[in-house]
Amino acid sequence: MFKNNRYGWLAILIGSALLSGCAAYPSVFTPQSTNSQEIYRLILIIFSIAAGVFVIVEGALIYAAVRFSRGKQAGLPKQVEGNNKLEIAWTMAPAIVLAFVFVISLPTLRSLTTQPAVVAGVTGKTVLKVHVVAHQWWWEFDYPDLKIVTANELYVPVNTVVSLDLESVDVIHSFWIPPLGGKIDVIPGQVNHTWFQVTQAGGYVGQCSEFCGIDHAFMRFEVVAESQDEFTSWTRLMQAQALVMSGEGAQGEQVFLAGTCSACHTIDGTSAQGKMGPNLTHFASRMKFAGWTVDNTPENLAKWLANPQDVQPGTLMPNLHLSQDQIQQLVVYLESLK
Ligand code: CUA
Repeated sequence: MFKNNRYGWLAILIGSALLSGCAAYPSVFTPQSTNSQEIYRLILIIFSIAAGVFVIVEGALIYAAVRFSRGKQAGLPKQVEGNNKLEIAWTMAPAIVLAFVFVISLPTLRSLTTQPAVVAGVTGKTVLKVHVVAHQWWWEFDYPDLKIVTANELYVPVNTVVSLDLESVDVIHSFWIPPLGGKIDVIPGQVNHTWFQVTQAGGYVGQCSEFCGIDHAFMRFEVVAESQDEFTSWTRLMQAQALVMSGEGAQGEQVFLAGTCSACHTIDGTSAQGKMGPNLTHFASRMKFAGWTVDNTPENLAKWLANPQDVQPGTLMPNLHLSQDQIQQLVVYLESLK
């Protein structure tokens, strides 16, 4: 098949790179919510129709090119213009196909916008309400009924309807978790609404999908879908009081409260009540920070505090020109906020 082994290996390498990319990257082809399963069914139907159209049109084209080829010496063929029957046919055919696609899309559109109050099978469970606020370039998740505010990590129980009200504080963003459902614009001054119900526990990466400035590509988040029990323990952890600090942690807390940090960030139970940046009350429990792009390790946090622009060029977190001691104290403090 291949002229020599080099091309064979190249093909295998490219093929496996493509396949592993598909497996690792969030995809609409692995639907894990009731909504995305419905979208996926519709994708398959519409794709089949499109594939049928492609085969018929390309088949006719190739057949005509081969069957009616007249060679180089034949000269100009007879010049004809207009064929009413043909033109009516190729106007009507796409119109009928598109009308069919429109009609079969209606039930899906309707079910995506109709949020069930309580889902069959989990009667008695209430809907989980989350207020999503998009910022340049991170996501705020506010659970009004649970009095929890977090950033970039959206914890939800499986088989429960999660009802989302979304708005933006700056520019237009778009909320999208490919395996969990359709995207929805997040607009300043307007509250949009969507919902999903995850069917399989796991982590699902979401991504802002509307260009919103320099760090648009780094505006990610993760939905962590857990069993009801695990979700309940998570809410207990989030509602717990802040720890009393000692040693370097207490010094870090002083730096945080006395310095610029508290003007932009909230830490519940302290005087830090800033609203510009993410709420850091349980910062240490987060997997990643900076728009869910940087692993939450003491080393990365130290680099971030030394100069955020080095870690993520464009971020609105300013360089606070902290001393090495202050950075060390802040890292100990923040990494103990479980
Ligand atoms: Cu937010 Cu793109």
